Amino acid sequence: MIGVFDSGLGGLTVASEIFRQLPGRRVVYFGDIARTPYGTKSRDLVRRYAQQDAEFLLSKGAKIIVVACNTVSAHGVEMLRQNFDIPIFEVVMPAVRRAASVTRGRVGVIGTRGTISSGIYERKMLQLSPQVRINSVACPLFVPLVEEGWIGHSETLSIAKEYLHPLRLARIDTLILGCTHYPFLRSVIRQAIGGQVKLVDPAQDTVAELVDYLAHNPGLDAAVRTPGQHEFYVSDRTEHFVEMAKEWLGTEVVVQAATAG
Ligand code: DGL
Repeated sequence: MIGVFDSGLGGLTVASEIFRQLPGRRVVYFGDIARTPYGTKSRDLVRRYAQQDAEFLLSKGAKIIVVACNTVSAHGVEMLRQNFDIPIFEVVMPAVRRAASVTRGRVGVIGTRGTISSGIYERKMLQLSPQVRINSVACPLFVPLVEEGWIGHSETLSIAKEYLHPLRLARIDTLILGCTHYPFLRSVIRQAIGGQVKLVDPAQDTVAELVDYLAHNPGLDAAVRTPGQHEFYVSDRTEHFVEMAKEWLGTEVVVQAATAG
């Protein structure tokens, strides 16, 4: 199975991209709802949670892990790669590669406080394309707005305009949606930042890398094609997750309660 974990619901954006780009493969998903959000927590705590989340997925038979959460990708992927002997995919580098390939030189990044203050996007872009200028902004209100379903509310657009104002002033031409939840705000963000700015959704390029990896590793591809239903686990009340999964994935899923760590 392909293991996917996130601090909660948001990683469903990555799971749905796997269903779209890799039909026939089986996914085991863990959403750490009990301890969400990760975006406001310290690096050490996020790492500890990430270790436990990955251990949980391994115990369920994951042969590959996709870290859907940007905050974990920012703080804990190197640690996970040292501690686990299976392929680990993350969402930052694929987004940086995509942004570097489409930008004319000015990239914006939005994410949680944890992701933005880690400086990961700037560091990775500097290594890849030192001439690209990056401006980043934390947008902590976006996650609760998405989870409350406030996507079409005028208040959400006002908040987006305020958050994105510095990026408009910086005249960015490309914007990385550096958080699991932000693809749901795509149309609001587009309105707030302007129609010409290219939006990069890390989930799409992360899964595209996974597609490529599996094409070169047929044994592993066969191992994640096991028959059966996808499995979804969350670490606290399942009802909200079931509702959101139905809306976001367009299908009913069975969700089980579980704890990591
Ligand atoms: N999954 C987190 C991320 O992508 C957003 C939610 C949270 O803060 O836990 O950074």
